[in-house]
Amino acid sequence: MTADEPEFALDVRREGLLARSGAEPVAHDGTGRVQLSFTVEDKDAPPAQKEVRVPPGVSVFDSASWNGIAIDSTCGGHGTCHKCKVRVSPVTAVTVHDQRTFTPAELGAGWRLACLVRATRDHEVLVPPLTTRPKAATVGVGRQVILRPAVQKRYVELVEPTLEDQRPDLQRLLDAIDDLEPVPDLYALRRLPTVLRQADFKVTAVVVDEALVDVEPGDTTGLRYGIAFDLGTTTVVATLLDLATGTPMAVASMLNKQQPFGGDVISRISATMMDPEALGRLQAAAGATLATLADQVCREAGVDPHHVYEAALAGNATMTALALGIDPEPLGVAPFVQTTATPPSVPAAEIGLSLHPGARVALFPALGAYVGGDIVAGMLATGMDRDKRTRLFIDVGTNCEIVLSDGNRILSTAAPAGPAFEGGAIRCGMRAADGAIEVVKLDPEAADGSEVEIGVIGDVAPRGLCGSGLVDAVAELVKAGLLDASGRYVTDQVAKEVAPGLADRLTSIGQERVFVLHRERPDSDPAEGVVLSQRDVRELQFAKAAISTGWTLLMEELGLEHGDLQQVLLAGSFGSYLSAASAVRIGLVPKLPVLRIVPAGNVAGEGAKMALLSIRERVGAAALLEEVTYVELSDRADFNDRFVDLLAFPG
Ligand code: FES
Repeated sequence: MTADEPEFALDVRREGLLARSGAEPVAHDGTGRVQLSFTVEDKDAPPAQKEVRVPPGVSVFDSASWNGIAIDSTCGGHGTCHKCKVRVSPVTAVTVHDQRTFTPAELGAGWRLACLVRATRDHEVLVPPLTTRPKAATVGVGRQVILRPAVQKRYVELVEPTLEDQRPDLQRLLDAIDDLEPVPDLYALRRLPTVLRQADFKVTAVVVDEALVDVEPGDTTGLRYGIAFDLGTTTVVATLLDLATGTPMAVASMLNKQQPFGGDVISRISATMMDPEALGRLQAAAGATLATLADQVCREAGVDPHHVYEAALAGNATMTALALGIDPEPLGVAPFVQTTATPPSVPAAEIGLSLHPGARVALFPALGAYVGGDIVAGMLATGMDRDKRTRLFIDVGTNCEIVLSDGNRILSTAAPAGPAFEGGAIRCGMRAADGAIEVVKLDPEAADGSEVEIGVIGDVAPRGLCGSGLVDAVAELVKAGLLDASGRYVTDQVAKEVAPGLADRLTSIGQERVFVLHRERPDSDPAEGVVLSQRDVRELQFAKAAISTGWTLLMEELGLEHGDLQQVLLAGSFGSYLSAASAVRIGLVPKLPVLRIVPAGNVAGEGAKMALLSIRERVGAAALLEEVTYVELSDRADFNDRFVDLLAFPG
């Protein structure tokens, strides 16, 4: 290999991708969308119509797959199986593979291999009935994913060698697999001669992406699993998936073992800057967290970890760097640079996982230091890149990521919301754990002791206030007139006038005004109860102003008004639990009917599942790097003015 040659040349074995001479040139300016009108035939039902809009340059095969339209394939769009036959109009250029697959009359009629047609303009596409019905799984926010994992198994019964047939073992095996062309790992080569002979040449080849990772005795095709990890700064979630069916087998979560180094990414980055040993310890802590969860889900599902051949990991840029043992310092200081936006997949053992020896971990690409792989995974799970609607995605947290799409352009940004939502800097703040008040409802008219209704996690005595409770409490106090639009508690006199049933709960601890959310008895010392202080309200105002400044600037960039938004997705472990009405009342989200505000759940974890179940979805994640424009807020001249304007609560 010369210095000019690419370091990786795996695609040379993908004959279909190499031999695109004659394929339609992919000339396009990379903006906007093209429209594909699919007519999907079915042996047992009338044809179905589906219009999809995709970025120019995406193959017809991928466009269909991303939108839950199944086209025959056994190679997963690699151009080698010649099964993905469709008829396109207007006709496109003919590739050498089309010539091998279709008659001249069929070519003239527009029949092509869907994975080799790039959608660079609007097309009509006829999809014939499936000859083999692929299985699909619903993942993410209503996303249908056609199952085509990177992990493939093929059971073969080989003819035993003779003096007349001295083909090498590997060739004998690969000759029997007609739709995959893997390169063997050394581990698989070492096992091959013994396993073949012990199993009477009846074996299962295990292929992960481009690699033959193992040869197993007998038919093990029903045993292939993967683990999707959402590596959060606070909480880590693992889902064990049956890759043959897309079924989740077990889910487990735990606090990230990096917690002793600080609750947020900045404190963990700082730890590595102050102590040269800290990076290793943080990496080990991430690995231990992932390994604990992997053990747990395998045990729960009764799955041998050796049958887990792949994992997918979605984390923010700092979490990903720390899991890989990469110095995160450049992420924490201006100009906030990542080591790589597209981390390669890595051996699972390298990040502390004891799965199959050949297992690898696929990592999500990141848009920037503060819009990381977790958000790219979230965009995948919510279909932000393929939905025509005007949608706003907000992942609420210490670092709040915001994505806005008008159906053509997608913008993203990150807003520094601070720790208020996680209970940090809040007098009685706590995480969403047992004892946390998560729902607050005030009724100023009630005179029977029910003027304050609280919902507590775990049905135990209230110990503090978590993020959703904080937002509810402030929203309800604004509604009741006890907080004015500027976020200031009203005077006792005004409180008695506007909310007589609540007025006695508005009091002081020392010099600070507080509202008592929970007390043992009406005469209890407020300092022993759960209270919301004036400073807490200010903290929430700063957080919500940072977030609303983010989406306000993105909306201005696209020329959108609040009413233009067809859907607001609230994502993440905090955002998904927010009351939509409270979020609107305090101005955390645009003023919209609450039905348009939708909790999206753990979209990072869902995106990781999608990446495990479909290699085409991974391509979709990589394409997001090209499609999404990152808007840096910190150098915007108008940021501060907007921020100050948005501190107040909307009328
Ligand atoms: S050739 Fe296999 S999917 Fe197109």
